[in-house]
Amino acid sequence: MRQTERLAADATGLAQAAAVLLRGGLVAFPTETVYGLGADATDAEAVARIYAAKERPSFNPLIAHVDSFRTARNQGLFDETATRLAEAFWPGPLTLVVPVAPTCTISDLARAGLDSIGLRVPAHPLAHALLERTGRPVAAPSANRSGRVSPTDADHVLGDLDGRIDAVLDGGASQVGVESTIVSCLGGTPRLLRPGGVAREAIEALIGAKLETASETGSNPLAPGMLASHYAPRAQVRLDATRVQSSEAVLLFGAASLPGAETARLTLNLSNNGDLVEAAAHLFSYLRQLDASGAATIAVSPIPETGLGEAINDRLRRAAAER
Ligand code: TXA
Ligand code: MG
Repeated sequence: MRQTERLAADATGLAQAAAVLLRGGLVAFPTETVYGLGADATDAEAVARIYAAKERPSFNPLIAHVDSFRTARNQGLFDETATRLAEAFWPGPLTLVVPVAPTCTISDLARAGLDSIGLRVPAHPLAHALLERTGRPVAAPSANRSGRVSPTDADHVLGDLDGRIDAVLDGGASQVGVESTIVSCLGGTPRLLRPGGVAREAIEALIGAKLETASETGSNPLAPGMLASHYAPRAQVRLDATRVQSSEAVLLFGAASLPGAETARLTLNLSNNGDLVEAAAHLFSYLRQLDASGAATIAVSPIPETGLGEAINDRLRRAAAER
């Protein structure tokens, strides 16, 4: 297992942290809410390593952190309400979920295949400096292992993730201590997906309307990840396929092909050498490509349940069930 470096909150530490991110590594960094576990959001393999380090059993969409509203506008489409919220509360503990812009460079995996994106401009000076230096959107969930509490200092991060990530930028304690408020602006009344560092009342006062809440729309507000309507392929998904039926599309994993694959409409391999991190990085874009082939069914060869295989299989089982 790799050594996790503790980087100082100075110019050298920032330069090292940015370098690690730009070469696809993982860096935990302070924000005003909690510490985030960052990866270059445009690099799907780097994003896959976040899920592996956290041992997340499923792919939730991640928040992409950017240095300014200007940068955010290249990634997402801001309607009038979203623009007002961004102007009033950024930088700060507010995440806005907006439709992806045509110029969006954030990987499918960071978005969990969705056509929307959660964006945030953090107020913490170190986070801001790191984002400026990196010049990329940085995907970052809270820097804890799945199921543990969110970390508010570098020691918490190391307690959970030492040896599993490349570095932690040590900026002392986070002031807010709770995660950002998440508001979805996808047309119609904005929805509160998760309460957090910006009070609901402050948002409602600004927009002059009540926020629709998660419970009003029938979802559990305590499980924000479940609110995302997951990307579902149009085609049927057939799991654990041992042979290919005529005109199916095929999703392979590993060196072995499937009998009948030469008759497939389109065959894609998540990872020829059986690397689950590479497989996770390709998952959503490959599902889309196979779906776009027009095949009625996507046959999927078996994928091991170890490491990121659990999250990959979770996503595939949902795709197979959603009809
Ligand atoms: O304060 C915070 O928000 C921290 C710091 C590091 O910025 N980050 C954080 O990330 O709490 P995380 O991964 O624990 O929470 C992200 C949540 C997901 O569970 C998901 O519900 C929501 O953000 N989210 C992100 N993108 C979304 C999208 N496109 N649609 C719906 N929900 C989205
Ligand atoms: Mg979290």
